[in-house]
Amino acid sequence: MKPNLADAFDFSGKHVFVAGGSSGINLAIGEAFARLGARVALASRSPERVEAAAAGLRDLGAEAAGFSADVRDPEAIRAALGGAAERFGPIDVLISGAAGNFLAPATGMSANGFRTVVDIDLNGTFNVLRGAHEFLRKPGAAILNISAPQSINPTAFQAHVCAAKAGVDMVTRVGALEWGGAGVRVNSVVPGPIDGTEGMDRLAPTEASRKAVTDSVPLGRFGTPQEIADCCLWLSSPMAAYVSGAIIPVDGGWSLGGASSLGKGF
Ligand code: COA
Ligand code: NAP
Repeated sequence: MKPNLADAFDFSGKHVFVAGGSSGINLAIGEAFARLGARVALASRSPERVEAAAAGLRDLGAEAAGFSADVRDPEAIRAALGGAAERFGPIDVLISGAAGNFLAPATGMSANGFRTVVDIDLNGTFNVLRGAHEFLRKPGAAILNISAPQSINPTAFQAHVCAAKAGVDMVTRVGALEWGGAGVRVNSVVPGPIDGTEGMDRLAPTEASRKAVTDSVPLGRFGTPQEIADCCLWLSSPMAAYVSGAIIPVDGGWSLGGASSLGKGF
């Protein structure tokens, strides 16, 4: 049977909740859904940043709202998810991408520095997933955890992120196992080095380090936020109805080995 592509990517009236959605890749994902008709809820710590981001989506003609919540606080993130569900209905697509990062060797990282990133990336991912359960559309919801190549490649100066994102991918797999019966799909999207983002500015702050990154990507260039959003649209659509528990790199081949070179010369 010939698939109807126009209908598959029509997200009119669907509720898309983006945790960590006030900037960068996650905001670009929210914007991509907004342009296809979705009602988009964005959550992040800073009330000003998240409200400004939601206002930007409303300027595109979308229904959008911002919620201030720290993913490290299970009650706060549950309240944001509940508030969004009250406004936009059951959550059809949950994007979980709040994260923190900095380059530091293990000897330059305090216990609190390690814990902080694990708390945001890994515990935060669990808090979002767990808090969302009662508000998800069942059957039908798609959950996308935004992971990183550090989940696959051990990477110098990234002990905290490697540990946290590897855990994120396991939360994805276990979520897919436990919630598949309710008709909920859970997948990880693994962005490669994405130009013009906070994450890449922190990890490759100089021209030399930017060149080292692109030299180590088989496709020879940075990716764009839109390329990550495109994968998220597909994964949330009926075109991916049988995809669950997958860890999908969108990285120009970087996670085949190049990602381990990040931080060289730091
Ligand atoms: N090198 C070593 N340690 C660092 C560090 C660095 N560059 N930056 C922060 N830390 C340590 C701090 O010293 C602190 O440890 P200490 O109490 O032992 O001194 C610990 O990390 C927590 O820092 P704090 O600033 O209190 O955390 P926060 O919760 O306010 O912010 C961060 C979290 C550090 C991750 C912050 O950079 C952030 O908010 N990032 C979000 C944006 C981002 O990282 N985007 C990229 C996503 S890939
Ligand atoms: P970014 O712009 O810094 O986005 C991070 C978002 O998370 C912001 O909206 C931030 O807003 C929010 N956030 C941070 N800590 C939070 C917390 N404790 N609670 C709630 N929200 C929090 O980063 P990015 O570079 O676009 O990265 C986005 C995602 O892609 C991350 O998951 C990252 O690991 C992944 N990734 C990025 C790259 C890259 O090249 N950039 C590569 C691989 C993977 P507030 O400050 O308002 O809280």
